[in-house]
Amino acid sequence: MKVLLSEIENHITPHALEEAQELVSATQEYEINQVEEGYYHCISRQPDYHVEITIKNDGIAIPKCHCTVFKKTRQCRHAIAALLLLRDQILRNLRSKKKSNHEFQATDEVLRKLNVTQLRSFLSSYALSHSTFRAEVLSNFLHLTRTPDYHSLFMDIAPLDKYGQVRLNRNSIKTVRGVSSTLLKHAQQFLKERALAETLRILEATILHLHRLFVKVPQFQEQLMVEMRMAYKIFDGLCSQAMAPRLQIRAINLALDICNRDGYTFPTGMKPLLAIIEPFILEEKTRKSAFILAEKKVQSENSQLIQWASLLLRWTRLWSINISNPAIRKKIQKHLPSVILENNQQGRHEDVLYLVDQVKPDEYSDAIQKVILQTGLRSAKQVGSEEVMIKLAYVLSLNHLDIDSWLFLHEKDPGKAQRILSIIEDMYQPGSDSSADELLLNGWQFTRKGGSIIQRIKAMDQSERLMEFDFMLKDKFRTELETAYAEHIISVRSAYGGIIARQKLNNIFGHLKAMDLFSSVALKIKEMEKEKQDEPTQDNHTIKGFVFDLDGVIVDTAVHHFQSWKKIMKELGIEISDSDDHHTRGAGRMESLEYLLDTYHVILSEEEKQFWASRKNDIYVDAIGGITPSDLLPGALIFLQASRDLGLKLALGSASKNARPVIKKLGVESYFDAVLDGNSAEKSKPDPEIFLNAASALRLDPAEVVVFEDAAKGVQAALAAGCYAVGIGDPSSLSAAQIVIPGLDHSNPSRIIELLS
Ligand code: BG6
Ligand code: MG
Repeated sequence: MKVLLSEIENHITPHALEEAQELVSATQEYEINQVEEGYYHCISRQPDYHVEITIKNDGIAIPKCHCTVFKKTRQCRHAIAALLLLRDQILRNLRSKKKSNHEFQATDEVLRKLNVTQLRSFLSSYALSHSTFRAEVLSNFLHLTRTPDYHSLFMDIAPLDKYGQVRLNRNSIKTVRGVSSTLLKHAQQFLKERALAETLRILEATILHLHRLFVKVPQFQEQLMVEMRMAYKIFDGLCSQAMAPRLQIRAINLALDICNRDGYTFPTGMKPLLAIIEPFILEEKTRKSAFILAEKKVQSENSQLIQWASLLLRWTRLWSINISNPAIRKKIQKHLPSVILENNQQGRHEDVLYLVDQVKPDEYSDAIQKVILQTGLRSAKQVGSEEVMIKLAYVLSLNHLDIDSWLFLHEKDPGKAQRILSIIEDMYQPGSDSSADELLLNGWQFTRKGGSIIQRIKAMDQSERLMEFDFMLKDKFRTELETAYAEHIISVRSAYGGIIARQKLNNIFGHLKAMDLFSSVALKIKEMEKEKQDEPTQDNHTIKGFVFDLDGVIVDTAVHHFQSWKKIMKELGIEISDSDDHHTRGAGRMESLEYLLDTYHVILSEEEKQFWASRKNDIYVDAIGGITPSDLLPGALIFLQASRDLGLKLALGSASKNARPVIKKLGVESYFDAVLDGNSAEKSKPDPEIFLNAASALRLDPAEVVVFEDAAKGVQAALAAGCYAVGIGDPSSLSAAQIVIPGLDHSNPSRIIELLS
């Protein structure tokens, strides 16, 4: 990017300009240094960016930013912001030049007339009375002296009082930061010039004092972190140079000393000092002390525990030292997943692989194990370790049903990937685990196993999903595909009939038309239906009659029964529990009362029992007094009608003595060939008596009868009578029944017979 400073706005898009202007206003701490004629450094610390600008003789400015966006696109908001800032500064200088030139000239004049002794005395007396000025002078020029003493400089500006407390306020913290950043700038320059000893000397003092203040004046920690971060960056840069052994030892000592201090914290996103000097630690003894120090940190440290733990584990790998303390081992084991993620973030892939190997699977949840293995696989790819990649991808696909890993494995070792599909197919029933189904479908799609896809989808009872795959199945598996669609359509039609079936199938029909499969599937349906008609009709009418319970199956009176029990028990001073409904539902009036009295330890005489039983009935009859056909449960009437249409014999089999008046009020009396109520059997459900009586009233064998029941006791009675049982309601309490449906509106008589036959 090349622009004339005066015409920045004409060279870039309004959006980029707006972004850069926002950045300019967010830029709080920055400086622009003229390194040489026509060459500037714009360094912003907050936010962090660094742009070099060259201004050619013809006035064209060429920025160069250090960010990745710039490296890729040759333009970034930092570069534009820096150009704007530089232009501002040049304009400002031009404006103030006139004014200050005069002052400078006067000062110059005076200084030139002074001799060295006078100058020295001026500096020392002025500097003594103005500590900020002195600090500034020293931080700028101390490095020019023979033995610069940076420590004293820091002690001067942040002295300790007699209680060992640092006396620091908002102003002096500014001085400390100013001094630190000036010194660090010198250090940076030294590092550039390869004056490593000088660089280290500045860093030793700066890092030490910044940490000292960091601990002593917590309220300024955030501000001090800015310079600390800069110091760490330079130290990192220094330690990556080939340093003389004696300098390396000094760097090690600095790191050991600082890290050992209480409250030691390193800037977030960076490494602790000990990690920076790791390559220098060659001696067994030093390794041991560094290791022990890291162990101590793990034991005590909490906010940066993960980073210390990851360093410690890295050293167990690199230096073959073991963690002897079981408590530390346990603590680390607990945080191992986070340590792995931290290493991954830092790009330490060898460490990630080493740690993934240490993971004890049973200690973490499935989800965490999966993340760990996925991280391991990513690192193995980085490191290029084929064997580990295959191992991890294998476990991820087999144990965690991870599709991406399976695809990767297939690329590397198709044989193994194939084996996984067979194992999973054997291990998981279709529809029992959706991840297994997905993996299989994906895998087969990839390996073009169309037949297996069709079979699985059919067995999952989700034939509409064929639509996702038929583009690949259409050519090679056309016949199987058409058959599967045809079977699905026929079964939806027979389960739901007319309008509902059409609604459900609309989507598929549209799709089949689009895929040009509609007419062939329609043909197939015709063929299949014809085959069925042509089949010799054997006498499979084993089911000839239906017996319906009343309360909770045809009408929603079950709730009134229970409310009435609640009421009379309350009158008896007892609050019954909702779970008692399970025991009174389906049972006769007296049996229910006995159960409640027993459960709540109420002792009554025979007469009293009669009294409370009839009191309950009064309340119940009162509650259902206004019952009309609109109180029939959804689907009940259609179901009764459809049952009749099929020529089935129908009976009512209820324990309620109120059954007859109730079906009358509901207007369904005429549907039943026989009505058996609370007076028709001596024994209450679960005794089979009432259903045996119902079967015989219909002149059928109980094995030819299907009973519809909402009570577990009723299902038990039906099965004990030798009838089929269809549970209406919650599958968890009706699981003994052959079929459970939420209500009669969820099925139809033919479907029930088909399922039971
Ligand atoms: C059953 C109900 O249908 O009839 C039971 O599920 C009830 O809750 C039983 O106890 C007897 O009813 P009634 O109307 O004779 O008291
Ligand atoms: Mg019932």
